[in-house]
Amino acid sequence: MIQVTDLHKTYGNKKNTYDALNGINLTINDGESVAIVGKSGSGKSTLMHVMAALDTPTSGSVQYEGKNLANYNARELNKFRNENIGFVFQQFFLKPNQNVFENISLPLMIKGISANQRHERVLQVLKEVDMEDKKKNKATDLSGGQKQRVCIARALINNPKIIFADEPTGNLDSTTGKTIIDLLFKLNKEKHITLIIVTHDDDIAKMCDRRIYIQDGKILNHENT
Ligand SMILES: Nc1ncnc2c1ncn2[C@@H]1O[C@H](COP(=O)(O)OP(=O)(O)OP(=O)(O)O)[C@@H](O)[C@H]1O
Ligand SMILES: [Mg+2]
Repeated sequence: MIQVTDLHKTYGNKKNTYDALNGINLTINDGESVAIVGKSGSGKSTLMHVMAALDTPTSGSVQYEGKNLANYNARELNKFRNENIGFVFQQFFLKPNQNVFENISLPLMIKGISANQRHERVLQVLKEVDMEDKKKNKATDLSGGQKQRVCIARALINNPKIIFADEPTGNLDSTTGKTIIDLLFKLNKEKHITLIIVTHDDDIAKMCDRRIYIQDGKILNHENT
């Protein structure tokens, strides 16, 4: 369970500040699928980054299973993120000159997993996203949908409990986007991975168990399916 309490995030300093989050309270249960919806600039990515421990709040707290992220030091936070959270972004953030296998196995290298085990695990996640045949391709030589599937494979590599997806179909045509969305929801349903997805697309938002509408860094309302 993720519990967000009175979360504030202010960017900038001195006279030039901007309150991107203005007191967000939110609970997300294990296995839930949640859409975060709102206009450009409303604070969706900021909320996602703070919830996912990629950024720190100005005040308020984010707790996982009752543990406040603020109590972790940088090393503990990295470990927590690696072991629990997968990310999928609108931009793919793949290393262009590395092949698919190398892009995905990086988190395992960091963990010190042996070459044999890395190989096995990478093939497993590539199979889940139906990309085994492209493991030797350079990231630059893939289509947009294939790149996003590699990103999902990379997000899955450490068996995360939660996937945060920020506009995962933003750079894809609608057919390819549908494939990616179906894949994310399949992981949510079959592996019970909590799915938190920022989207402008009503159809995607409606597929989620719950929609959270954000305006000016505040929650306007929750809508259950
Ligand atoms: N590093 C930063 N410094 C200053 N202001 C920032 C910074 N990052 C974001 N902001 C501001 O905070 C507000 C919320 O930004 P955020 O990226 O969370 O919006 P968003 O809802 O994700 O928008 P979009 O749909 O366009 O991605 C915006 O007004 C933005 O300009
Ligand atoms: Mg955003």
